Amino acid sequence: MTLDPSADAALVTRELRGKVLLVTIDHAPVNALSADVRRGLLAAIEAADADKSIEAVLIVGAGRNFIAGADIREFGKPPVPPSLPDVCNRIEACTKPVVAAIHGAALGGGLEVALAAHYRIAVDGAKLGLPEVQLGLLPGAGGTQRTPRLIGAAAALDLILSGRHTGAKEAHAMGLVDRVGRSSDILAEGLAYTHELLAAHAPVRRTRDAAALADRDASLAAVATARAETAKKSRGLFSPLKIVEAVEAAIEQPFDGGLRLERKLFLQCIDSPQRAGLIHAFFAEREVLKAPETRDAKPRALDAIGVVGGGTMGAGIAVAVLDAGLPVTMIERDDASLARGRAHIEKVYDGLIAKGRLSAEKKAQIMTRWSGSTSYDALARADLVIEAVFEDLAVKQAVFAELDRVCKAGAVLATNTSYLDIDALAASISRPADVIGLHFFSPANIMKLLEVVVPKQVRADVVATAFELAKKLRKTPVRAGVCDGFIGNRVLAVYRSAADAMMEDGASPYQIDAAVRAFGFPMGPFQVVDLAGGDIGWATRKRRAATRNPAARYVQIADRLCERGWFGQKTGRGFYLYPEGSRSGTPDPEVEAIIDAERVRAGITPRTFTDEEIVRRYMAAMINEGANVVHEHIALRPLDVDVTFLYGYGFPRYRGGPMKYADMIGLPKILADIREFANEDPLFWRASPLLIDLVERGADFASLNQSA
Ligand code: 3HC
Ligand code: NAI
Repeated sequence: MTLDPSADAALVTRELRGKVLLVTIDHAPVNALSADVRRGLLAAIEAADADKSIEAVLIVGAGRNFIAGADIREFGKPPVPPSLPDVCNRIEACTKPVVAAIHGAALGGGLEVALAAHYRIAVDGAKLGLPEVQLGLLPGAGGTQRTPRLIGAAAALDLILSGRHTGAKEAHAMGLVDRVGRSSDILAEGLAYTHELLAAHAPVRRTRDAAALADRDASLAAVATARAETAKKSRGLFSPLKIVEAVEAAIEQPFDGGLRLERKLFLQCIDSPQRAGLIHAFFAEREVLKAPETRDAKPRALDAIGVVGGGTMGAGIAVAVLDAGLPVTMIERDDASLARGRAHIEKVYDGLIAKGRLSAEKKAQIMTRWSGSTSYDALARADLVIEAVFEDLAVKQAVFAELDRVCKAGAVLATNTSYLDIDALAASISRPADVIGLHFFSPANIMKLLEVVVPKQVRADVVATAFELAKKLRKTPVRAGVCDGFIGNRVLAVYRSAADAMMEDGASPYQIDAAVRAFGFPMGPFQVVDLAGGDIGWATRKRRAATRNPAARYVQIADRLCERGWFGQKTGRGFYLYPEGSRSGTPDPEVEAIIDAERVRAGITPRTFTDEEIVRRYMAAMINEGANVVHEHIALRPLDVDVTFLYGYGFPRYRGGPMKYADMIGLPKILADIREFANEDPLFWRASPLLIDLVERGADFASLNQSA
């Protein structure tokens, strides 16, 4: 019999199954705990307590999940009662046994609801976890108090600080759930378990009274260890140490006192800019998947992949494809190059074997999906081919002519070019509609970003196929238009120039790198040059010398280093010294002398920069070019620029990306900075028309994020 749920509780339905009140949360897509769901849950528990015929309550989720957590979209908005902690407390206070039956995600607030229930059963495929830390938060509905009481301080800290998901079996082993269901039929399993509990007269059993913290000394020791590790590991992050503090309170204070502290710390996290940045990142990385072509067109088949070139990128791309379980055919110029290409791939897997993360048998099995040839005819059956040969339009056109000749009709022909004009490449063959850019980042088997570069003539289903490939390779695709450097490298070139100018004007590369690291990047710009190899940028600069605006400032310091053969880590020195293959560089007085000489040559009297000024200029350059990229429709929205930088350039996730950061600083401030810097170099510091327009309208980048 279906009971009549109150109008505001339509997302939570109640149904009597004998003496059990079945409470189903049905709030697509993931049963997030919106205000209506919270109201519905509360009303259901009230009803169960009030109705004498009901002896137990069973909570389940409709669809693919139990509950994915609090409704993230509500954060930052005025709170609507009832609060989730109140709902959880009310569930726990129920006078009749409450059972949570978990399938799919029981994350964050979802797991907290389950912990407030008196008994828990999970089935295969369940994902339990407290991932709030990844959103700059801590579990705010009793999770920091109930979890340690149930599974102990050490296990709780591990779960909450890592934000990782556990499966049903592990959750059972650690005591998070009481039972693992035999089948995946969540309703049948939940009902059977509840009936069993009733038959056994199982009592109401509240997690707040659980005793896993009984060994106080061991619990406090776990807290001390976690605090020391967290202080070391999560540099700059706000919520991890708050988590430790909240779990400590679970040991030191009675339950209600601990809950009060948890609430206070949770609200501090909610108010932190890191929460805003991380939640922006969460939604942005989902929005990038919704490029217009993925809505309108169906992907083509992706069963056999070809890669042309077995160098740094070709080999990395091949590994990414092999790791996705797909077969790869590699083409190289000659047998020796092909052998090198294969060796590059094997080196990746051998590294994993050395670390004990892969067995030799598994490697052999993976390599059976690899085949190589020096003849393009081997690509006749490929569904998609990725070209990764030298960065030279003529060489690439010759490769594409071959692909045009041998590939079957409908094959997608992709280029991994970093800068070249893909429209021109497409126009050079008979099937331009099948040509697309797939810009991977190095190392291609590791880096998550994939710029999907969309030329003029490409068909929508080719774009959809590129997004599908990204999904198979577990990459984060960002749609980009054709221009020199697409989104990422185009913006990179501009803030690199700003860094070069600061270096010539008086800041040392070491100070600039340190300031950029303190902002949150893992490396500064000069460390990146040394890692990637100074020769790569040098070749690009030489190629562009003829077309460079002679009026634009050109800092020659990097050229002076390259002329000496100082290409960075691989040559033992670049901006830094790398004694005996060391990977962490030390400052080089000779480089500083070269910089001094260059300042003299350029007639510059060096001045000092504060770290704050360095970051202000670096970010202003990045944001301004990011705005240009959106203005010219190279990026669909500001959030596409954000995801590019989060996934391809080490931008600190807790700041959300450059455009989100700009919104948080305030666009009028960014524009004022640019105008101030323009007094020194008006050609370089030209404010983007989009930035000016937004400031004039009192709008921000976020206002453009809905409009793709
Ligand atoms: N609130 C609001 N929307 C959510 C959401 C949430 N908690 N979780 C997912 N969504 C949305 C997504 O934005 C997406 O929306 P879209 O279709 O408009 O793009 C849709 O639900 C589907 O999400 P996914 O594409 O991610 O679906 P998957 O099936 O791949 O993954 C999932 C499902 C594993 C549940 C994944 O969505 C996820 O990890 N969600 C976040 C879980 C989380 O962080 N929970 C903690 C929230 S904070 C909290 O609970 C605080 C509490 O302690 C007080
Ligand atoms: P690489 O020099 O390491 O490899 C190029 C490979 O292509 C060599 O093995 C060479 O033998 C092979 N090759 C050349 N001509 C060929 C032909 N006609 N047929 C078959 N094979 C041929 O170069 P890398 O770094 O792998 O770059 C390849 C492409 O990827 C370039 O377009 C580059 O701009 C782009 N790219 C490079 C990134 C990087 O960080 N290295 C990042 C993203 C893109």
